[in-house]
Amino acid sequence: MKIKDIFKHNEEWVAEQLRMDPNYFKKLSVGQKPKYLFIGCSDSRVSADIIMAAEPGDVFIHRNIANIVPSNDLNALAIINYSVNHLRVKDIVVCGHYNCGGIKVAMEARDEGLLNPWLRHIRDVYRLHKEELNTITSIHKRYDRLVELNVQEQCINIIKTRDVQKALLEKRIRIHGWVFDLKTGKLIDLKIDIEKIMRDIMDVYNLFE
Ligand code: CO
Repeated sequence: MKIKDIFKHNEEWVAEQLRMDPNYFKKLSVGQKPKYLFIGCSDSRVSADIIMAAEPGDVFIHRNIANIVPSNDLNALAIINYSVNHLRVKDIVVCGHYNCGGIKVAMEARDEGLLNPWLRHIRDVYRLHKEELNTITSIHKRYDRLVELNVQEQCINIIKTRDVQKALLEKRIRIHGWVFDLKTGKLIDLKIDIEKIMRDIMDVYNLFE
């Protein structure tokens, strides 16, 4: 895709939207009320809106390498704060994907320069679940499982934030862990038991009584 093609495609897209609804952009410019916050990987093959068949306005999106929510990442924390407190999203989704390059490189212990501190978040997930992961003899299956466990740990990182804890207490938010399978195009709900996780960890992380 060349740069000039992008602008041509944009013009065609504008014309198509206006053909279907002459007020499309007028309505779009009024404001947003997305129900979902989607935290996914920056991988060019994992376009949140496309895999969810969502329309502009449906999903508030944050993407980074390997869909991570570090406790000191101002970008991720600002996104969570704004979407939970101001947009009042109803659901937060952490969506990982199989064949994730970030997860793969984190599994291979080696120097990756500037990426080291970022990859360490994933290496820490590996360490937390080392017992389970090391029983998986197939390297591919272990890789897939780390993708899933990383999603689970990032859901836990979301629960550790004060904004989400408040919203959970007010029962106005749900948290979901999904994986996108590039080989089939399917979205898989990992059905992470958030309530059980909270029962297990909140004695350490609870910020409110
Ligand atoms: Co990825």
